[in-house]
Amino acid sequence: MRHMLNPLDFSVEEIDRLLSLASDIEHNLPQYAHVCDGKKLATLFYEPSTRTRLSFESAMLSLGGSVLGFSSADSSSAAKGESVSDTIRTISCYADIAAMRHPKEGSALVASQMSSIPVINAGDGGHQHPTQTLTDLMTIRSLTGRLDHMTIGLCGDLKFGRTVHSLINAMVRYPDIRFVLIAPDELRVPSYIREDVLKANHIQFKEVNNLDEAMPELDILYMTRVQRERFFNEEDYIRLKDCYILDQKKMKLAKENMYVLHPLPRVNEISTEVDHDPRAAYFKQVQYGVYVRMALIMTLLEVEKPC
Ligand code: CP
Repeated sequence: MRHMLNPLDFSVEEIDRLLSLASDIEHNLPQYAHVCDGKKLATLFYEPSTRTRLSFESAMLSLGGSVLGFSSADSSSAAKGESVSDTIRTISCYADIAAMRHPKEGSALVASQMSSIPVINAGDGGHQHPTQTLTDLMTIRSLTGRLDHMTIGLCGDLKFGRTVHSLINAMVRYPDIRFVLIAPDELRVPSYIREDVLKANHIQFKEVNNLDEAMPELDILYMTRVQRERFFNEEDYIRLKDCYILDQKKMKLAKENMYVLHPLPRVNEISTEVDHDPRAAYFKQVQYGVYVRMALIMTLLEVEKPC
């Protein structure tokens, strides 16, 4: 039995196969309508979510399976003090696979150790968000035709943004990837990403404050929201929340074939005027998220591709 806790749980070859399956699903959706008949997905969400929870549910329903779960800690027995370990042992009696989001780093790992069904990390605190990364990889590969030889700008809250940490972890495995890390000093990537991931893998990167100056060299711009829920004090959040706002003036500085991604939800960091720019890919990204989650559910449940 396998879990998906971190993008590195799958080799580059396995991710390649999963993205190819997701692409086949995209182009032949009706053929997959019954491959998970009789299977159940549990969504255990201790933190708010729109995309991740509903795209998992949409994915399982599109595969012919069913879904059950809770959408907040308050509506589960966590509110009575039940541990993650006891909850996953219980859910293992009800479902064939579980997707879990939790505010504490490492929660999905703890769950996987006590689970008798595959566990998917749907976001653990400021740590990792591997299915968002699969979504990002599918988006980049579909739009550019590759996952190598490119400069990726990551902008905003690089300290608390788990999607950023997961994406860096995943992309360092492809040839000739360069990062421009655009953040205020207070929201730079954590030192373990800088030292243990970027430097340890001899990846070219630079850390800058200025988005305008970085724009012309980027092939992908990955914008992120400042993560209010992870700040210790509101004053710091208010001071930093609008540190970068992508607008059409800034887009004029970018390459014609640069794409803008964002894991969403967006707050102010991308002006809605950018939505009309053909390079704005963040809503396409949402759609790709359903196909990769369908592919992931099939892979973890060892469901065969239809003939
Ligand atoms: N991208 C993402 O994780 O969105 P949600 O928080 O809405 O699930």
